[in-house]
Amino acid sequence: MKKVGFIGWRGMVGSVLMERMTAENDWAHIAAPVFFTTSQAGQLGPDVGHGTQPLLAADDLAALREMDVIVTCQGGDYTKALHPQLRASGWDGYWIDAASSLRMQPDATIILDPVNRHVIDAALAAGKRDFIGGNCTVSLMLMALGGLFQAGLVEWVSAMTYQAASGAGAKNMRELLAQMGALNAAVQPLLADPASAILDIDRGVTATLRSAEFPTANFGAPLAGSLIPWIDTQLDNGQSREEWKGQAETNKILGLDATPVPIDGLCVRVGAMRCHSQGLTIKLTRNVPMPEIENLIAAANDWVRVIPNERAQTVRDLSPAAVSGSLTIPIGRLRKLNMGEQYLSAFTVGDQLLWGAAEPLRRMLMIVLN
Ligand code: HSE
Repeated sequence: MKKVGFIGWRGMVGSVLMERMTAENDWAHIAAPVFFTTSQAGQLGPDVGHGTQPLLAADDLAALREMDVIVTCQGGDYTKALHPQLRASGWDGYWIDAASSLRMQPDATIILDPVNRHVIDAALAAGKRDFIGGNCTVSLMLMALGGLFQAGLVEWVSAMTYQAASGAGAKNMRELLAQMGALNAAVQPLLADPASAILDIDRGVTATLRSAEFPTANFGAPLAGSLIPWIDTQLDNGQSREEWKGQAETNKILGLDATPVPIDGLCVRVGAMRCHSQGLTIKLTRNVPMPEIENLIAAANDWVRVIPNERAQTVRDLSPAAVSGSLTIPIGRLRKLNMGEQYLSAFTVGDQLLWGAAEPLRRMLMIVLN
């Protein structure tokens, strides 16, 4: 049995990974998982069914080199610091990583096996060793639209996103809730009085949103009661880095780098907790009837679920509140747009911590181990 080392297993994505591995009984496939730490070497690690062992230091190259597989959710700085040293030392184990640092490296494969198992298998056969989880928005879009890409029906996609606080990190989720609480507290007496005027309440909310005391240390702007139309850094061409990833990563995941499908749009942070939503406009390569489109989408994988374009079901099933904590990828609002029969609209929601982060990693680990 292969030796598997885990780094960053206590953070938000790492914790979701641990939970999912427990839920799927993945630990039974690992004889002796080794847990590393950046701060608590020597303390007892978690018991995942194999007893507890002392934690090893995450920068202990000799210990890392003992591993056949390393799974890291520690973040990009750790990857940038350790991965080159390990490879330079001749280590040829499998590196499975949630961070973006290595994604676009020629030797790295972006993993989303329900969509690109053929690309993963070809990479394994070619002796590739670096397997990196994709950007959450891209992975969730492909889990939803995989059937149309597979059928070669996508000429281009414009994605308008509604991204959750979790994509920015655990502290940001807390800050979103702190902002919600501050807004509520600021107008509580008025809210409690049914006779108060809504415009007085609104004035109180707006003044609080704009006050210097409003908690914005992590987002840099109000999110609760507002939104932030920029995610990640600014590129020279006017795109945000998050927007740039849409085309770059989608085509790499699908193995379409030679003939890339254009993908672009606007990425927006909204006050959802951990589900990213996306409004999609898809230009089809030809006019395909709606039932065929729905069948192709629904048949692509076990998690995508077509929600009929009908009000009650849409409101019930196609929202972050409905999807949070679940692997289901609903896609709805499917209809042809006024622009013509080749223009399709869609709306999809997915849990950013599951298919958007932890799930492709644990599935890659199982591919490598079995
Ligand atoms: N960059 C994403 C976001 C999360 O900020 O929502 C990571 O894929």
